[in-house]
Amino acid sequence: MLAAGKGTRLRSETAKVLHPVAGRTVLAWVLEALRPLGLDRVVVVVGHQAATVTAEAERVGLDGLVAVEQTEQRGTGHAVRTVVEAGALRGVDTVMVVPGDTPVITTEALQRLLDRHRHAPGHPAATLVTTELDDPTGYGRILRDDDGRVVGMVEERDATDEQRRLQEVGTSVYAFAGAPLAAAVVRLSTDNAQGEEYLTDVVGLLASEGVDAVHAAPDVVAGVNDRVQLAEAAAVLRRRVLERLMRDGVTVVDPATTYVGGDVVVERDATLLPGTHLEGATRIASGAAVGPDSRLVDATVEAGATVTYSVVLEAVVGPDATVGPFTFLRPGTVLDAGAKAGAYVEMKNAHIGEGSKVPHLSYVGDAEVGRDSNLGAATVTVNYDGYTKHRTVVGDRVHIGSDTMLVAPVTVGDDAYTGAGSVITKDVPPGALAVERTEQRIVEGYAARRRARHEAGPTASH
Ligand code: UD1
Ligand code: CA
Repeated sequence: MLAAGKGTRLRSETAKVLHPVAGRTVLAWVLEALRPLGLDRVVVVVGHQAATVTAEAERVGLDGLVAVEQTEQRGTGHAVRTVVEAGALRGVDTVMVVPGDTPVITTEALQRLLDRHRHAPGHPAATLVTTELDDPTGYGRILRDDDGRVVGMVEERDATDEQRRLQEVGTSVYAFAGAPLAAAVVRLSTDNAQGEEYLTDVVGLLASEGVDAVHAAPDVVAGVNDRVQLAEAAAVLRRRVLERLMRDGVTVVDPATTYVGGDVVVERDATLLPGTHLEGATRIASGAAVGPDSRLVDATVEAGATVTYSVVLEAVVGPDATVGPFTFLRPGTVLDAGAKAGAYVEMKNAHIGEGSKVPHLSYVGDAEVGRDSNLGAATVTVNYDGYTKHRTVVGDRVHIGSDTMLVAPVTVGDDAYTGAGSVITKDVPPGALAVERTEQRIVEGYAARRRARHEAGPTASH
C-alpha cells in the first residue's frame, strides 16, 4: 500500500491518507477493504508524517502489517523498490499494489483482481485494474497493441495529444508476480516529466512476460487527490454504508440527509430519522430510534431507546431510555434502562439509574442518581467551585424539587425530598425533606398602592 506521499493537491498540513472521509481516515478505508482478503503480509509504505501514518495503520490493525519508510518520495516505482530493497517481499509469490489514496476501493474488486491474476492463462507477470473515464485528466493512460494486449502505460504529463485522448486509465491497483516485479523496479528511469520513478513504467518493462487487465467501475477505483475528490469519495462511501444498513434491516427514512460513519454499528429494526449523524464507534441497538436532527459520536443507544433532536458524545443511552428534544449528553453519561433526559437537559459524567427522570431544563454533572428518582425542572448540580469538580449523589426514589441547586459535594439519601427553589449545601438524610428558602411574606393591597403612586406622578412624595 503506497501511502508515503504528501498529497500536495489537498493543500493541507495533514498527510493525504490521514484525512477523514465518511467516518474513517482514507488509510483506514483502504485497510478495511484489505482485511477480508486475509493477506499474509500488508506492507504500508510511509514517508510524509511517517510516525502518524504508521500509528494510524497500527490502530486499524491487520494481521501481518508492517510499515516500510520511504524517506524521500521519488515516485510510485521508487516506493515499491524501497519495499523490495527492505526485503519485505522476500519469498512472496504474488504482490498486490494498492494506492493509499483510494478510499472507495472494495474487497470485491481486489478479490476479482487476485482471482484473475492467479487463474489467467499464461500466468501473466502483471495484472492491472483499469477503468474508463469520460474525463481521464490526470490519470495514466493504458497503451494497447492492435490485438488489444496491454503494452504499457503513459502518464498524462508525458503523453502525446493522441495518447491523451485515450479514456482507459490505470488505477494504481495491480497484482504482480513477485520475482518479475522485483527485477523490474530496479530498472526504472527518472527520464520523464516529473523526474520520478514511475511504477506505471513497470507495465512496459513486463509487457513481454504478459500483462493482463481487469476493468472496474470508476466509483471503486477513484483516487482522492484534492478536496473535491475527497467529497466525492465521501458521498460514494456514505451511500454504500447506508445501503448495507438498509439491506441488513435498518430503516433509513431519508438517506440523502443521513450520515453514518464506516465504523458505526446499527442493528436491525433500528430507525434513523432524517438529519441523523452517527460518528466514531457509535452503536445503535435493535428497535432504537435516532433523530430527527441528532449527532451521536462514540455513543451507545440500547434497544428501544429514542434520541430526538439531540447531541450525544461518548455516552450510553440504556434500553428504552429517552433523550430529547434538545438535550446534550456529554462524555461519561450513562442512562440506565427507562431513564429520561428530557428537553433542554445537559449531562456530563452522570449516571442516571433505572427509571429515573430528569425531564426539563437541568444540568447534571459529576453525579450519581439511583433508581426511580425524579429531578424536577431546572435542577442544577453545582459541581464546580472554580478549582475542582465535586460529586453529587442522589439515592433511590428521591424527589428533587424544581429549581433545586445541589451544591456538591452533597448526598441526598433514599426516599428524600428537597423543596422547590432550595440551595442544598448539606447532606439530606434518607426519607427527610430539606428545604432552604425564606418564609413567604404577603403584602396586602400592594398593587393598588403602587398604581396610586404612579398616577400621582413623579413630584408626589412617597
Ligand atoms: C498514479 C499513477 C497514475 C494512475 C493514478 C491512479 C504513477 C506514476 N501514476 O498517479 O498512472 O492513473 O495513480 O489514481 O504511478 N506515493 C508514495 N511514494 C511516492 C509517490 C507516491 O508512496 O514516492 C503514493 C502516494 O502517497 C499515493 C500513491 O502513491 O497514495 C499514488 O501517488 P499519486 O501521487 O497520488 O499518483 P497519481 O498522480 O494519482
Ligand atoms: Ca492519486
